[in-house]
Amino acid sequence: MVQILPSSRSQVRPLGLVDGCGRTIDHLRLSVTSKCDLRCVYCRPNGQADAPAVRGLLTDERRIELVRFVHEQYGLGRVRITGGEPLVYGSVVRLVAELKRVVPDVELVMTTNGRLLYNKGFELFHAGLDRLNISLDSINPERYREIAGADIGDVLNGIESARFVGFRDLKINTVVLRGVNDHEIVDLATWALSRNLEIRFLEAMPVGPESDFNRRAFVSAAEVQAVLAKRFQLDPIRRDPGATARLFRATSRTARGVVGVIAPVTDPFCATCRRMRLTAEGMLYPCLLDDRSVDMRPAFGDAGLSPTRADALIRSAVAAKGLRGVTQATPMVRLGG
Ligand code: 5AD
Ligand code: SF4
Repeated sequence: MVQILPSSRSQVRPLGLVDGCGRTIDHLRLSVTSKCDLRCVYCRPNGQADAPAVRGLLTDERRIELVRFVHEQYGLGRVRITGGEPLVYGSVVRLVAELKRVVPDVELVMTTNGRLLYNKGFELFHAGLDRLNISLDSINPERYREIAGADIGDVLNGIESARFVGFRDLKINTVVLRGVNDHEIVDLATWALSRNLEIRFLEAMPVGPESDFNRRAFVSAAEVQAVLAKRFQLDPIRRDPGATARLFRATSRTARGVVGVIAPVTDPFCATCRRMRLTAEGMLYPCLLDDRSVDMRPAFGDAGLSPTRADALIRSAVAAKGLRGVTQATPMVRLGG
């Protein structure tokens, strides 16, 4: 890999990347693969093969060049590495280390299903990954297998090993589905609180091949909150600007900690959205719920990234970011959530 110099943002004050609705976009979700080792029921059908790459993948070097450019040109607060499942991507540790070297002041986080953490957590922590969100939709082994098609043991080991190697502020993401895991809300919250894990319950979004199922099995964040409120005293915590979760300090006789709900369907956070997402193939999507995207590959020539072309492409993508997303045909495994 060619050595990419660290971003020199500290010397130049970036102007900010502002979309047509006046929102500053300073979070990038970087999907590094659309492959995944699980088959979650709300994401894709059991047994469906990994989606083939349509255009060929962006190289890590190009990803890093783009991140460096965005950071230097506009300012970047956070990069979230996603998939598919980012830990099945062979060079993910090296990518993390390179990003940390090139943009050391950018918060570097990851969303993972946690199955490979017991194996890669140590290296990821020492490569400079700041935080982890881990998806877990059940703590019942049979149900976990029904939902995700795999053994829960690896995920639970992964969570413990992540903590052991030094990760703090671990967050658990749970998609709530009627008739599947909705009766497990209190158990999941109790389990998480007793381990000092912040758990956030998500509304299922009707996107991708499972959109009909997600509509039928939909449980609102308000309903989840009502279920939690029967068992815990819930005191709201002020949310950071652009935060997606409504967080509560939860207290019961035996447990205390932070729980949250995320309501992309009933209470979308579009007004304060600060994200854009780059797929593994180099398509820049300004919105999760908008099919429109911009191919970033023409930004690269023989001499590497062309700042002029990259700027024009990124600005055209961000200018098209609507006030509110509507629908998305591209599966979540490609977009990384
Ligand atoms: N609705 C809500 N959340 C989803 N995720 C994947 N598909 C959906 C959906 N249709 C979640 C995963 C993971 C994150 C990447 O997005 O469970 O936590
Ligand atoms: Fe994989 Fe995440 Fe989709 Fe589950 S939700 S199948 S872990 S990409």
